[in-house]
Amino acid sequence: MKKFFKILGGVLGVVVLAVIGFVVWVQARGIPTYDKPTASTVAVAATPERLELGRSLVLASCNDCHMNKKNNKLSGQQMLDTPKEFGSLYSANITQDKDHGIGNWTDGEVIALLRTGIGRDGRYRIIMPHFVHMSDEDVNSVVAFLRSDHQWVQADATPTHAQEPSLLVKTLVNTVMKPTPMPTKAVVAPAPTDQLAYGRYLVVGRYQCFECHSKSFETNNALEPEKSEGYLGGGNHLLDVNGVDIVSRNLTGDSGTGIGDWNAGDFTKAVKFGMSPNGPLHAPMPKYSTMSDGDAAAIFAYLQSIPKIKNATPEDKGAVAVQ
Ligand code: HEC
Ligand code: HEC
Repeated sequence: MKKFFKILGGVLGVVVLAVIGFVVWVQARGIPTYDKPTASTVAVAATPERLELGRSLVLASCNDCHMNKKNNKLSGQQMLDTPKEFGSLYSANITQDKDHGIGNWTDGEVIALLRTGIGRDGRYRIIMPHFVHMSDEDVNSVVAFLRSDHQWVQADATPTHAQEPSLLVKTLVNTVMKPTPMPTKAVVAPAPTDQLAYGRYLVVGRYQCFECHSKSFETNNALEPEKSEGYLGGGNHLLDVNGVDIVSRNLTGDSGTGIGDWNAGDFTKAVKFGMSPNGPLHAPMPKYSTMSDGDAAAIFAYLQSIPKIKNATPEDKGAVAVQ
């Protein structure tokens, strides 16, 4: 017996030392730095089409995090809708200011960050989504808009607040949150006439609806979205701007818990204006006000075509418990 406790004590000692060692390592490493991805040196040409599309994409996919409401510019803000356990996190100033914004970044460096999550200094950017499957044309449109004379992106000297990540975030970025690779070939969106393929593109590539609408960020699969657990079946626990829990909804074609009983008109109103048959929708659900009705219809058709999941979320008022 004595020997047993001695061995147990020894094992526990090793485990405790390993944990302490890991914590010290994580604290020392902090937010990791990687080799900078190779950025193309070619500057993105600003065509009128790109500027218009870019504005619409930035409005849909960047403003919620980067807009500073005090000056109506993309000069950054505190991220109040991240869990308290993450510490205090801040989005960056992405205006054209050369010292405090991204005025000195090349277009290639901005693209590399959007694809991989790695900044021009090699540091991994936390919370910032990776636009893995977004088409090259859409990415170029975002970059063209960031370089435009639109007031949101005009140089603003507000410094980006230093990140104050918790030990939990440092642990996550040293274990599960990793950069994604640069695409090795051209990323091209399917033609809108191929409605289902185009709808899929909008859901996984352009707008990344699946990230919020699958079971959990932890089990999402950025490289192969359909392998995310509970793909588009809702139930991901998010936070609103007041830090209050809000659950994403089931977008599969299940009638009852999903949107199987909706028509394209119901869906378009929900996505563009936040008016769902279940009542008004709240942040962090974005309002895709500039999305065309044709794009909304393509997304709707695609969602009706994917495997149905039965998963009730709070607005279903107790039909089936949230998983
Ligand atoms: C969920 C919130 C969120 C969304 C959506 C988001 N960002 Fe960010 N972004 C951040 C945060 C937070 C940082 C700072 C991260 C850090 O410093 O580790 C950041 C950093 C950046 C940076 C790096 C700037 C620097 O100086 O380090 C760029 C460029 C950027 N974002 C561009 C964009 C663009 C363009 C979009 C839309 C296509 C976008 N972001 C969408 C949260 C977000
Ligand atoms: C940042 C996270 C986020 C993203 C990105 C997002 N959603 Fe949502 N969505 C939510 C949340 C949270 C709700 C629930 C809102 C509420 O309860 O008021 C919601 C609700 C909805 C609803 C209402 C469903 C119902 O049963 O009433 C629809 C439809 C919807 N989203 C579609 C989409 C589509 C399509 C996309 C991509 C184009 C998308 N969402 C992207 C978070 C998100």
